[in-house]
Amino acid sequence: MLLHSIIEVREQIKEWKKQGLTIGLVPTMGALHNGHKSLIEKSVEKCDKTVVSVFVNPIQFCPGEDLDKYPRTLDADNELCDKAGVDIVFAPTPKEMYGEGHILSNDFLTYVVPPYFYTDKLCGKSRVGHFDGVCTVVNKLFNIVQPDYAFFGKKDMQQLIILKKMVNDLNIPLEIIPCPIVREDNGLALSSRNKYLTEKGKENALALSKLLFNIKVCYNKGITDTSALSETAYSFLNENHSLEYLEFRDKDTLEEKKIADNNTVVFIAARVENVRLIDNIELN
Ligand code: PAF
Repeated sequence: MLLHSIIEVREQIKEWKKQGLTIGLVPTMGALHNGHKSLIEKSVEKCDKTVVSVFVNPIQFCPGEDLDKYPRTLDADNELCDKAGVDIVFAPTPKEMYGEGHILSNDFLTYVVPPYFYTDKLCGKSRVGHFDGVCTVVNKLFNIVQPDYAFFGKKDMQQLIILKKMVNDLNIPLEIIPCPIVREDNGLALSSRNKYLTEKGKENALALSKLLFNIKVCYNKGITDTSALSETAYSFLNENHSLEYLEFRDKDTLEEKKIADNNTVVFIAARVENVRLIDNIELN
């Protein structure tokens, strides 16, 4: 069932809650791929009812980012959801979510702002305000759908960590289910932005996952000094990659690690053909 209005979603949810059914939410920005499909499958398996939201959230895009260009494929997304057994695809307009002016208008003024020491690093450093937009929209979706479980991919690990903190800090009554990164057979992490890459670009993008896998091999061999581990990575990069960051951080607090351990995540962001790609690997 494809719904565009908050009120219709609320009515259906009320009905399901009355029947004591459990509800899973998979928040997305559409352009669904197998990564999203794996989240959806987990929800369908675990919950009585599954809601997938498809909303390109304007307030999480920074000036100069790809908001207008971001792929919008609602018909295909809806078909994928239908086949996967989704009960509601919720695809609101920006006006439905934020009112007439939708950004800093009198219709919408309240943001959820996560702690700055979770957002001033990694992706947050170059995407100022991005996680405020993410937390705000996810909070709104939680309030609209009132799910028992919400499914997020580990591909956006910083987002996942921040959302877990938000749920904990604000006592939001649901459980976040982290789901593994889905990769192509060659290791490339699936992303809606891969669509912007040429074949050559996809080949070059492979360096990101390769260097992460290599870091894990080195760690498993006993190298724990993170500068030494970083050194092993640079040989995978060349003039086709513009590295934004390669960092070792704690899985819960995002604090920087000088010495890697089993609670460390290695995060990378780089541009290939001017497409910003992110990936990460857990060292446990
Ligand atoms: O990960 C995403 O696609 C988005 O950040 C999310 C969680 C759907 C919020 O817009």
